[in-house]
Amino acid sequence: MQTILSATQLTALSKQAHRFGKRVGFVPTMGALHQGHLSLVRAARTQCDVVVVSIFVNPTQFGPNEDFTRYPRTLDADSAMLAAEKTDYLFFPAVEEIYPQGAATWVEVETLSGKLDGVSRPGHFRGVTTVVAKLFNIVQPDAAYFGQKDAAQAANIRKMIRDLKFDVEIVVCPIVREADGLAMSSRNVYLQGEQRKQALVLSRALQRVQELTAGGEKSSDKLIAAGKVVMAAESGVLLDYFVIVDPDTLQPVADVAGGALAAVAAYVGNTRLIDNVVLPTQ
Ligand code: PAJ
Repeated sequence: MQTILSATQLTALSKQAHRFGKRVGFVPTMGALHQGHLSLVRAARTQCDVVVVSIFVNPTQFGPNEDFTRYPRTLDADSAMLAAEKTDYLFFPAVEEIYPQGAATWVEVETLSGKLDGVSRPGHFRGVTTVVAKLFNIVQPDAAYFGQKDAAQAANIRKMIRDLKFDVEIVVCPIVREADGLAMSSRNVYLQGEQRKQALVLSRALQRVQELTAGGEKSSDKLIAAGKVVMAAESGVLLDYFVIVDPDTLQPVADVAGGALAAVAAYVGNTRLIDNVVLPTQ
């Protein structure tokens, strides 16, 4: 595996791979890698000839009071994991490489950026779509791999790809969980003692929704109410949102018969966690 710091150099390598008829797969990350990230790398490794992974803690997707400065940075461990997965190129740019002095251009999906996490994290999705657009221009991938864990992020990126006509296939991979159901996240390292157990309430509430749906319940209001009852039973966890929406438009749906996304966000102490399940067409 080669670690590349320069955007120009990475673009040249991607162009060269394309000249040889190779398929380039790209996995954008912010590092502090876990099995969720590695599942994307493995999917890219299976489906592509050249695998590029980026590690870039993107300042523009963090709010002023969020965890940008203390976000876990574990480059040595990340590099070792990526090399073991036979990654070809690790792209590890400095902030100025992505945001040159005076950069003033933004990419925002106006109909989606203010929904779900966009409510309590204004500007977050604008930061995500802006950095992913830049990374697509640098890496020029044929396919890009994202996790279902960040379902609203995937919706923003799908729409950006369509609207801006990026010639990139998006692949969304399933959520990887710990054995007890907690969705893997780089932020799980923030959970202290009792909080690790409290965090299980998110997956438990979604599981309740799944069970009720499997039993024939179709009303989103009823399913949301049942999910919120589970959430409320865990004191110390502050609910941000519990919604059932269309996975593409992120608009609430009244019933789930046609399939839907049930998504939750909550604060466990100061740590904001998210999780979701896809409810199948009934
Ligand atoms: P990050 O949080 O590092 O996640 C990188 C990718 O890994 C995302 O596509 C995310 O959905 C996926 N991922 C994280 N946890 C997962 C899990 N438990 N199971 C499956 N996939 C999982 O998401 C970002 O970084 C950034 O917003 C980024 C897209 C890199 C732009 O800065």
